[in-house]
Amino acid sequence: MSDHTPAALKVIRARGVLAPATTAIILGTGLGPLADEAQNAIAIPFADLPGFPQSGVSGHAGRLVIGDIAGVRVALLQGRAHYYERGDARAMAAPLDTLAALGVTTLILTNACGGLREDWPPGSLVALSDHINYSGMDPLIGVAADTRFVSMTNAYDPALRARMHRAARAAGVPLHEGVYMWFSGPSFETPAEICMARILGADLVGMSTVPEVILARHLGMRVAAVSMITNFGAGMHGASPSHGETKEVAAQGGIALKALIRAFLGTHDDA
Ligand code: HPA
Repeated sequence: MSDHTPAALKVIRARGVLAPATTAIILGTGLGPLADEAQNAIAIPFADLPGFPQSGVSGHAGRLVIGDIAGVRVALLQGRAHYYERGDARAMAAPLDTLAALGVTTLILTNACGGLREDWPPGSLVALSDHINYSGMDPLIGVAADTRFVSMTNAYDPALRARMHRAARAAGVPLHEGVYMWFSGPSFETPAEICMARILGADLVGMSTVPEVILARHLGMRVAAVSMITNFGAGMHGASPSHGETKEVAAQGGIALKALIRAFLGTHDDA
């Protein structure tokens, strides 16, 4: 547990959140409005929560929203901290520890990313099947216990993935499945790096999610992740990605993602 967890939990309880939330969703760049779906919501700015990201990237509101979507109590993080902000792979450790203390056992991660498949244009949604950690960083470096040797096989829970695909079919939302490659950022990849990523088996590139998956698996949470492709990888079709484009396309595509998440929350695992 992070040193900040008891204090963060105290703030959350003081705002009237008493019942546990078992599912949490981290909303990536431009995808924050999904939290508007929450009924009976309590919103707490990250600034009031010890250990939560205080800096912020434009396109991220920086709030914890706890409320009901499709009748399910969920904790939504509108925004995240990235490795590239301070060079800290543990940037999301305290928020995730706090979610675990709140009772969260299922974590849904969303992000905006670059797409490497010619047939997946910007706006496409992709459920992650696996990742390649190309950053060389790991948030469990420095954890002094054998628990640090976390298996990353089936890190993206197969039953949650199957449920995500069922939800996509029910909602009429096209959903691909692919491998996400984590680059540290904040500079975008070069066209040569994109060529390399494609050769190595990546379908998507991005600057987040992977450290959170590792931390969540360390906490024993089940994880699912959905990426919104906001652009082709650098050099593909002449692409030269920008943060402005990422925010704009993610905001447009957010409608499909909202429908997907709502349908997901409304269904159950077969497992
Ligand atoms: N690369 C890395 N991260 C991203 C991209 C990209 O092309 N688009 C949105 N986030």
